[in-house]
Amino acid sequence: MIAPSILSADFARLAEEAAAVPGADWLHVDVMDGHFVPNLTLGLPVVEALERSTAIPLDCHLMINNPDRWAPGYAEAGSRNVTVHAEAAHDPRGCARDIRAAGALAGLSIKPGTPLEDWVEVLRDFDTLLVMSVEPGFGGQSFMPEVLDKVRTARRLVDTGHLTVLVEIDGGISASTIEQAAEAGVDCFVAGSAVYGAEDPGRAVAALRAQAVAASDHLDEG
Ligand code: DX5
Ligand code: ZN
Repeated sequence: MIAPSILSADFARLAEEAAAVPGADWLHVDVMDGHFVPNLTLGLPVVEALERSTAIPLDCHLMINNPDRWAPGYAEAGSRNVTVHAEAAHDPRGCARDIRAAGALAGLSIKPGTPLEDWVEVLRDFDTLLVMSVEPGFGGQSFMPEVLDKVRTARRLVDTGHLTVLVEIDGGISASTIEQAAEAGVDCFVAGSAVYGAEDPGRAVAALRAQAVAASDHLDEG
């Protein structure tokens, strides 16, 4: 799956920017509060408007403090997946329950320095795991390959039936990094600057997908 991040799109033309990536599986929406991360983006009213403007399922990534209070609203707005940060949630399991009760998939994100081991039990209550491959807050940063160990561990836990999460990666995904992420076992790739910085965002999505598929086919061959 490819999830273009609208953080790198033109915020004054979000409906057109969504229409520019018709082949996207999810549209990734970075909600930042200027507290959990040192940047401020958009909130629920914009997500509600975007929901009315595109048929692409929304993947809301909440980089905010106290997601316990705010996450259910993003699910009620019709998002397909709502992700909270492990480092910010007071009661992650309660967040997952509330997000699911409001009709969305529940995601848990971990920053590059957060160990996966600490969250494996909690992840039993989640549908997606978002592994950050940059420090959250800004688009266009360099990919951190050291987080791929966490992806490999998560992949193993899923493949052996210990977890049932979709493994998603976010940060620095581009033509030069997507193959190593695919080989490590990522299911869903978020890409901001690599899609919206391209001349043709729709073609960039198709090209990234082709690379990821080729890299994981090669894995299956052994
Ligand atoms: C960063 C955001 C990302 C961002 C990725 O905090 O969570 O979703 O849009 O941007 P790129 O793909 O440019 O690294
Ligand atoms: Zn994100």
